[in-house]
Amino acid sequence: MAKHTYFVTGTDTGVGKTIVSAAILEAAKAAGKRTLAMKPIASGCDQTPEGLRNEDALMLQAAITEKLPYDTINPIALEPAIAPHVAAQQAGKQVTAQRIVGFCRGMQIRPADLLLIEGAGGWQVPLNDRETYAAVPGELKLPVILVVPLQLGCINHAMLSAEAIRADGLVVAGWVGNHPEEQVMSCEQDTLNYLSTHLGAPCLGVLPWLENTDTAEMPAILSRYLNITPLIEN
Ligand SMILES: Nc1ncnc2c1ncn2[C@@H]1O[C@H](COP(=O)(O)OP(=O)(O)OP(=O)(O)O)[C@@H](O)[C@H]1O
Ligand SMILES: [Mg+2]
Repeated sequence: MAKHTYFVTGTDTGVGKTIVSAAILEAAKAAGKRTLAMKPIASGCDQTPEGLRNEDALMLQAAITEKLPYDTINPIALEPAIAPHVAAQQAGKQVTAQRIVGFCRGMQIRPADLLLIEGAGGWQVPLNDRETYAAVPGELKLPVILVVPLQLGCINHAMLSAEAIRADGLVVAGWVGNHPEEQVMSCEQDTLNYLSTHLGAPCLGVLPWLENTDTAEMPAILSRYLNITPLIEN
């Protein structure tokens, strides 16, 4: 059984869920932990001779300590780079929370110290006409890691996300401030102070914008800015 499983969400798409997940996995590896990760449903996949492949899932696959076949990490791969429920509809695939929960449970029974499950987009991204992705961590009762891009407007997005996570009966286990873009936020320290006081969860780290860095090298570099103790203690 995976000892600790977390669901990784963000205030939006493109905020750094994958980079942050990979950095957490690198930090856990450096601490001698066995790690697993999943991107259960991924849109925006590339056709390759081996089948559909998604950048997020490949980055997670590269960051974990356990060897896993691609399909186990990303069981639902969709080609168009559009919202997952629309991509699934177009591919004629039925995506339900229950199906994703089944894949996640299959991963959770593997031995590991830490398993990260990356969602898609933000907290209430739809899976189909009836369900949002939130139903997956909801059913699995997973604690949630929230990725917040340090940009103007992020306090509102972070507070709304944390409120929605808690309204779904789940715990925000920690949050990570990221810089997915070059721009520097004015009064960033005030924003960090506000979030530290009001988000009601530990800050696991504030990650810098990495300029001119190979994407494959980013997780190991960013892992040094994280304190993952709250995630792996006990
Ligand atoms: N700290 C950083 N420094 C430099 N580039 C970054 C940083 N964080 C994120 N990026 C870049 O920003 C982009 C978005 O990051 P990422 O793919 O991790 O976001 P995401 O939230 O997982 O997106 P999605 O919703 O598509 O899964 C990527 O190209 C990533 O390399
Ligand atoms: Mg991602």
